[in-house]
Amino acid sequence: MQKITFRKLIGENYIYPELQGHFIEFLGSCIYDGIWVGEDSEIPNYHGIRKDLVDAFQKLHPPVIRWPGGCYADVYHWRNGIGPRENRPVTYNENFGTFETDPNQFGTHEMMEFCEMIGAKPWFNINMMTGSPAEMREWMEYCNRQESTTLTRERKVNGHEAPFQVEYWGIGNEVWDGGGKMTPQMYANEYRKFTSSCPSFGSGDQAFPPKCIASGPDGNKPKERVVWTKDFFKEMGKYRMPSLYGYDLHFYNWNLKQLQTEKKFDEKQWYDVINGCKELENVIHEQRCLIDAGLEALPKPEGPFRAAPRKCELIVGEWGNWHSSAFNARPALYQQCTMRDAVTTALTLDIFHRNTGDVRMACVAQSVNVLNSLFLTDGEHCILTPNYDVFDMYQVHQGAYTLGFEEKNKDPEVCIFASIKNDDIYVNLVNTSYSESKKIELKFKQCPEFVEAKTLYSKDPQNYNDAKHPNRVRCKEGKAPAREKDSFQIALPAASVSVYHFRKT
Ligand code: AHR
Repeated sequence: MQKITFRKLIGENYIYPELQGHFIEFLGSCIYDGIWVGEDSEIPNYHGIRKDLVDAFQKLHPPVIRWPGGCYADVYHWRNGIGPRENRPVTYNENFGTFETDPNQFGTHEMMEFCEMIGAKPWFNINMMTGSPAEMREWMEYCNRQESTTLTRERKVNGHEAPFQVEYWGIGNEVWDGGGKMTPQMYANEYRKFTSSCPSFGSGDQAFPPKCIASGPDGNKPKERVVWTKDFFKEMGKYRMPSLYGYDLHFYNWNLKQLQTEKKFDEKQWYDVINGCKELENVIHEQRCLIDAGLEALPKPEGPFRAAPRKCELIVGEWGNWHSSAFNARPALYQQCTMRDAVTTALTLDIFHRNTGDVRMACVAQSVNVLNSLFLTDGEHCILTPNYDVFDMYQVHQGAYTLGFEEKNKDPEVCIFASIKNDDIYVNLVNTSYSESKKIELKFKQCPEFVEAKTLYSKDPQNYNDAKHPNRVRCKEGKAPAREKDSFQIALPAASVSVYHFRKT
């Protein structure tokens, strides 16, 4: 039996809430028919935004949400999405086979209202490919400037007196492919040009400069991702360093070995997907080292204007399972989510939490109706996938501290993570075995009291939720584990995710 010993109940590293972030895009039915139904819809809504989705989303305390893409950001013109809705232009969306008209009803103000309702900070990705530094600068000004200018007066006329205070701005998306097919050298030049066009929004304590996030590599391409990061930083270091808050790596867990639906799989296909998601941990370590080495090699500051940044945050702006069937799906990139996706979602969040600091922010791709979703909408129904439950169970780690432990008789199929917040201890136990239940022992030097256990599992790992069976896979309260002196004996069902809560006495 695997034995876990907690010697000290003292937290180590702060777990940034932003590691549990989200991503939404004008793609498939993510926004139209997903988040946005319109004010006249029979589906209950808050000013056009689905009520059931907002109510469930805000329960997760989502820290940040990235928008409008993705690839779509590079063809999105923000001015199309402001002003009276009936006057907005209709454009066409070809993004990943969406092939729908885009009515531009969900624009900057609607996005900000959505963020306010669910309690998330926005991350806007600007249009680098078909846009310009001027267009980006005006969007930033429209959103964030305090002073009265023609643009900020327009914002007020459109219903928002106070600046939106959008903190994060992505400068380009996947620029090595859909975002412009650039080389690292080309991108470094473009990045410099765009970021030097950003307004600074004041100085001193009042300043609110945009936190600019550069487009990082495709995490699934080992050689290219190393070359990209090295060359990007090398090129950046040749001239005066621009502002660079973060570096956005994308990591999809591709399941493309053979055409298969996301719903039907055998034991081997289960493990292919489980093992694929674990690769992200090495990618994070590798990219962190490359970024740090890149910054270290930059010319040392000479004079007041040459200070090179000493830190650049690693961000995973898109992550999730991408099953081969998604390519042929209608709406585009629509996927069901089974227990297999819930387990990889849990493992991925564990990777972020364990490496908090090395990675600063991460957004699941995508939250609604696309790929690794938490929400699937079907007419009047808003289905919470098993991934929703994982985010719900794991929100206790936001703002907590990592908690160290020792493992004996390690079972490679059981993955463990623990955190502590004040007196509360949370232990995640993910049993990745397809068919075997597991027994584990948790031992404490100073034994806490058991508070509650939550477990997400389903008799069949292929189970999922849909309109007919919206709660087939749902997290349940578990029984108190058997206690013997200072240890607890826990039984984990096969293919399950559990969070055990204890409190220091
Ligand atoms: O999330 C779907 C797409 O995947 C995004 O638009 C793009 O950035 C990535 O390739």
